[in-house]
Amino acid sequence: MRIDVLTIFPAYLDALDLSLVGKARRDGLLDLRVHDLRDWTTDRHRTVDDTPFGGGAGMVMRPDVWGKALDDVLGTAPAAEVAPAAGTARAAGAAPAATAPPRRVLLVPTPSGERFTQALAEDLAAADQLVLACGRYEGIDARVAEHYRHTGVEVHEISLGDYVLNGGEVAALVVVEAVARLLPGVIGNPASLVEESHGAAGLLEYPVYTKPPVWAGLAVPEVLTSGDHGKVARWRRDQALARTAERRPDMVARLDPAALDRADRAVLGRHGWFVPAPAADAAPAPVRVRVRRGTAADAAALAELAAATFPLACPPHMAEADVQAFIAAHLTAAHFAAYLADDARYLVLVADAGRAGPVGYTLTVLPLTAGEEPDAADVAAVVTARPAAELSKVYVRPAFQGSGVAGALLDATVAEAAGRAVDDRQLAALWLGTNKANRRAQRSYSRHGFVVAGLRRFRVGESLEEDVVMVRDLRPATGPGAAPGTAVGETTPSR
Ligand code: ADE
Repeated sequence: MRIDVLTIFPAYLDALDLSLVGKARRDGLLDLRVHDLRDWTTDRHRTVDDTPFGGGAGMVMRPDVWGKALDDVLGTAPAAEVAPAAGTARAAGAAPAATAPPRRVLLVPTPSGERFTQALAEDLAAADQLVLACGRYEGIDARVAEHYRHTGVEVHEISLGDYVLNGGEVAALVVVEAVARLLPGVIGNPASLVEESHGAAGLLEYPVYTKPPVWAGLAVPEVLTSGDHGKVARWRRDQALARTAERRPDMVARLDPAALDRADRAVLGRHGWFVPAPAADAAPAPVRVRVRRGTAADAAALAELAAATFPLACPPHMAEADVQAFIAAHLTAAHFAAYLADDARYLVLVADAGRAGPVGYTLTVLPLTAGEEPDAADVAAVVTARPAAELSKVYVRPAFQGSGVAGALLDATVAEAAGRAVDDRQLAALWLGTNKANRRAQRSYSRHGFVVAGLRRFRVGESLEEDVVMVRDLRPATGPGAAPGTAVGETTPSR
């Protein structure tokens, strides 16, 4: 590959004699030439800039000087000889070349350019020639990029990031290094390119360690010295996912769900990212969902969500009229407004997907005094840990069912409830009733520490329903019999 860098500070690029790029030049893998733009000036002062048309601060680099320099290094027809024409129509009449011409790319670093990325570096590594035009002052006259686009040169105005440098030289160093290391033969061990940050996986790279095994009191993660390659690979992927979620949410939002296995989704879920089911009009992508307490402003959206999700959880034999009557009696915006206004009695947690609105919620009914357990007396008999709160509703939009959102809501609800007190006594248990036939829900609850305590019967309109009562112990897992799930064994199963 040939790379030409044009600058008024050629010495800035001396660093390109060093390290891998320097070696690649000496080995003949890279033909890198640095040029002084002032060599193309004709006046005594070697002037490259002038005042901006339209006024304003600073100086702008002259297109005529740049034109002469670029024509020389690109081998294009002198800009002065190209007939003036309007807009992009200029290149339209050009006859197609018989053989593919060499791919020459003009790169103009500027803070107003498109972002320079690994993907662009990979693409540029396949070009025949890169020419980097390093602007200074307020930049290069805009006609330079326009003109070379029209003459069939591929032009990219590129930015390193959202900050302003004094000129394009640092960007030129960056581009040369990022591209040169991808050229065949430049990196001794090409395997080291495979798992890098910003690679095909779309993740940041996992943290790396070397000897000594303990430094500054910090030990290398044990798994890395276990010799178990499978475990090491899994650990590294988990770390890459976690890092990316913490540092680069924009990258998580672009991940391809087809490349995410169960364990990947679990890691992302712990960082608040969930993959919904594919929608008809959009490819699925991870979505950030934050579990938070509900506020008065959520009432209408939660009522809409409840009306959409409650019927889906009802057993098929339930009459539609009974389902609708239940919604009208318990799940309207006015009901939610009342739940949200009374936080001594109700705990409402919302799984908030930002602009997509709430995708799930839990409603927990707290006892007002330690003696008062809400709901049926037979449940009070089953749930012996006191005081106990009822996890009355756990609903998630169908698109997010199976995504982990329900689990995140459950965990957050358990954590919130464990921090609540009634009559100065910590809540000891959270209980719920779930339809006897709904095995999937029961499995999900038991994954979150709920154990079956018994059954309850209740009436919805004409039908007599049977629920499994499940209980989650909230007391800290210290001392005999206090481990989650075991204390609930004190309850008497009722039949
Ligand atoms: N020149 C000045 N600022 C720049 C930036 N952020 N990226 C590339 N070139 C620049």
